Amino acid sequence: MSLFEGIFDPEREAALVTGAGNGIGRAIAQALVGEGVRTVFADVNADTATAAVKSSPRPELGFPWIGDLANSAARDALLAETEATVGRVTHFVHSASPPRREADHAMAVGAETWAQMHAVNLEAGFHLTRALSRKLIAAKEPGSFLLLTSLHAGTPRNLPHYSTAKAGLAMLVKELAKTLGRYNIRVNALVPGAIAAGGFVADPKLAKHIPLGRLGEAKDLAPMALAVLSNRISAYVTGASIVVDGGLSLTNWFEPPELGEL
Ligand SMILES: NC(=O)c1ccc[n+]([C@@H]2O[C@H](COP(=O)([O-])OP(=O)(O)OC[C@H]3O[C@@H](n4cnc5c(N)ncnc54)[C@H](O)[C@@H]3O)[C@@H](O)[C@H]2O)c1
Repeated sequence: MSLFEGIFDPEREAALVTGAGNGIGRAIAQALVGEGVRTVFADVNADTATAAVKSSPRPELGFPWIGDLANSAARDALLAETEATVGRVTHFVHSASPPRREADHAMAVGAETWAQMHAVNLEAGFHLTRALSRKLIAAKEPGSFLLLTSLHAGTPRNLPHYSTAKAGLAMLVKELAKTLGRYNIRVNALVPGAIAAGGFVADPKLAKHIPLGRLGEAKDLAPMALAVLSNRISAYVTGASIVVDGGLSLTNWFEPPELGEL
């Protein structure tokens, strides 16, 4: 068999993708389904999650789940319903994140917006990953988890609730990779650049700062995501941050925020 054929084992493997209603999460979930992997498409938006399944290459392998991942009861329900629907999750992708709004700079962001950003990114990322890893450890099965972080896990974005949540996720990837490696559970970060999707209102002028000369698209992320998720291709990759940014990080900077009247 060639290396890139059958990169998953659909008999044994199943996936859960959060934020699968839109953007990068949708592109990855649809690509997994395209590889024959039974996949739960989790999102807070019922319309987009359902539409994402329907427009998948193999809709019969996609299962929408609707709920707010900031809520711990909803996370528990997601885990129970996912197991009932697709069985044990071997591949987990955490892409859900509230949208970023430029107005939410350090002097303006409200407590609720701060809490929601951290709850969806970091708390959901931690609790879901740990719960899924416990099932894999009990079953002595390998697994592969991919958490969406950001270039702004390491450089400020003028959105402190977002950059601190992503910095936390970036460290969570390292903590979990170190702890779970002995069980053959791999944990990696996927780091997008400027991707024209729902979570980022892309200014086309940004393209001139990107060495490859264009903004990214969600579909630019999916092949790399699948490669890192695949235990055949990336069996020896864990704790890594895989940057897919057209070279943006070579030039990445943001002017300090406009504060307006304080
Ligand atoms: N687009 C970019 O340029 C970019 C850059 C760096 C990092 N990222 C990260 O990649 C991931 C995907 O980004 P995107 O641009 O595709 O985002 P997106 O906004 O297009 O998709 C995010 C999805 O998460 C869902 N979501 C939001 N809150 C939720 C909640 N409480 N519970 C369940 N689902 C919820 C949304 O409904 C949406 O479908 C995010 O984690 C984002 O921070 C994106």
